[in-house]
Amino acid sequence: MPLPADLRQSRFSTEALANSLWNGVVGSAMPTWRDLPARDIASLIRYVQALSPAAADAQPVSASRAGTRCRGLRW
Ligand code: HEM
Repeated sequence: MPLPADLRQSRFSTEALANSLWNGVVGSAMPTWRDLPARDIASLIRYVQALSPAAADAQPVSASRAGTRCRGLRW
């Protein structure tokens, strides 16, 4: 069983995070979080992005870009 990802190591795109949270990671222990309200998923995406060292220089990203991968999630 792979270890959980170290979320501090990369600056994940909004789209990649939305995909991982919405679908989980198949074949790993990473569950899907689609039972969470959309605004909680949006908050988690911002939180995970804030963990990376690159976050200090990063421009804010519109979470709405994640919408298409989230099969109907909108925020
Ligand atoms: C709200 C809490 C969580 C968040 C925000 C989160 C976020 C993520 C993200 C973004 C990834 C993808 C990383 C990548 O693409 O490299 C990931 C991977 C992973 N997560 Fe989570 N996760 C959470 C909770 C959990 C829990 C509870 C478990 C296990 C019980 C878990 C197990 C894993 C594993 C094993 C992977 C790696 C999958 C692989 O090998 O590629 N995660 N997580």
